[in-house]
Amino acid sequence: MRDNKTSQAANEYDANVHKTLPRYHLFHTETLDLVKTVVPKPQAWLDSGCGTGTLVLQAIECFGKMKIVAADPAESMLSMAKEKLANYEITYMPAGSEELCCPDSFDVVTAIMSHHYLQDELRIKATNNCYKLLKRGGVYVTFETIRPISKQGIQIGLERWKNAQLLSGKNAAAVEKHISRYGIEIFPITIQDHINILQAAGFSTVEILWVSCMQAGFYGIK
Ligand SMILES: C[S@@+](CC[C@H](N)C(=O)[O-])C[C@H]1O[C@@H](n2cnc3c(N)ncnc32)[C@H](O)[C@@H]1O
Repeated sequence: MRDNKTSQAANEYDANVHKTLPRYHLFHTETLDLVKTVVPKPQAWLDSGCGTGTLVLQAIECFGKMKIVAADPAESMLSMAKEKLANYEITYMPAGSEELCCPDSFDVVTAIMSHHYLQDELRIKATNNCYKLLKRGGVYVTFETIRPISKQGIQIGLERWKNAQLLSGKNAAAVEKHISRYGIEIFPITIQDHINILQAAGFSTVEILWVSCMQAGFYGIK
């Protein structure tokens, strides 16, 4: 039985995530690089869907001491994050992006691969809430598995994603099981839909940050 919404148990996540998401580390390095430019000295950062705390650790290493809130609805993930970040003062919140409530509080809000479990209404609620949580001028960064625009594009994208997972050493049954979640347990939307949702949330600047075969990153500035 899974202890969170990802395809692996929390205590196996760090060892395996790069096999499922071959460019996983780039989600974090691209995020940090963007923040360096937009908010070079962040005072307060919320990582929503923080998982095992990998991005939070890198943010501290990159930007030094600041107020940090690490949120995740999965207690199992939060407890892994607490272990990883034991040396730092962090506020933990056992909640999803759609539930957090502390408006106008953060210079940076990140939600890296955290919202594709949500269907339309809740996803919009989560994005709107991330907007509310930011201070004016603050930046929101999100990465997601995406939906190519055509049926054939989806087939090709999933095939390429499958092959990348096999090449990374994952066994065929695990790869099939993971790919079968697409549209059933995760609900990817197109790049255009992402842009629309961010613009509707009120972000004054909305941009694509990064795109690969089946994942993309976006940012919005409040
Ligand atoms: C694929 S992991 C990504 C973890 C981390 N952000 C990273 O970069 O490794 C997805 C995380 O999103 C969390 N999650 C699920 N539903 C969420 C929601 N509604 N809001 C925020 N996070 C959510 C899961 O519990 C899980 O820890």
